[in-house]
Amino acid sequence: MGKDVIIACDFDSAQKTFEFLDKFTGKKPFVKIGMELYYAEGPSIVKELKARGHKIFLDLKLHDIPNTVKKSMAVLSRLDVDMTNLHAGGTIRMMEAAIEGLTRPDGTRPLLIAVTQLTSTDEESMKKDLLIEKPIDEVVMHYAENAKKAGLDGVVCSPLEAGKVHARCGDGFVTVTPGVRFADGDVGDQKRVMTPLEAKKIGSDYIVVGRPITAAADPVAAYERCLNEFVG
Ligand code: C5P
Repeated sequence: MGKDVIIACDFDSAQKTFEFLDKFTGKKPFVKIGMELYYAEGPSIVKELKARGHKIFLDLKLHDIPNTVKKSMAVLSRLDVDMTNLHAGGTIRMMEAAIEGLTRPDGTRPLLIAVTQLTSTDEESMKKDLLIEKPIDEVVMHYAENAKKAGLDGVVCSPLEAGKVHARCGDGFVTVTPGVRFADGDVGDQKRVMTPLEAKKIGSDYIVVGRPITAAADPVAAYERCLNEFVG
């Protein structure tokens, strides 16, 4: 598994996405398609980006009964994405069903990554809204272990948690970390951030970077800077 920078293409249309990616002449960054873009454009956006030569992380965070997740994952698998995800909160049984659905007849499948607790969920809302009393760190690690038990490849987590996840679940368990910012950049609405270099040192396998690249005056230079710090 290679370390890489994944650009979060948080756009609401294919046109805006292509305008953005056309700036990267000769380069084919690994891209993340989230709910906004997928719901706007449907499977065609995946097919078109794939045809242009991009690797794709389809970030749709599935969470439903095991049978529905299994059948939906089978559909997503046929889109030939490289990575997709679900909510670990859906239980081990749901995650196992997802793996079954995702696995193609030839035994191959995209990487499957679990969201543990969203970084927007804090301990107070876990207690008040969800009646989860345990400390958030413990919950995140428990969900990561559940994902491993179910046969998943890794988790989405904050870069601050990546080291602990590897310590608990092994170095081969993939960590995909958003919340990355340049040392001299805008933090925006992200609360717990790290630079690409810090994320590298702590052992993140993939960093997901949105606005520091998409909103940069020179997105290609910002992407190169990320790559140099994180991979280079
Ligand atoms: O623009 P920015 O770099 O903050 O984008 C981060 C991307 O990672 C967004 O697509 C966001 O939805 C996603 N993400 C996140 N925090 C999580 C899970 C996903 O920021 N816990």
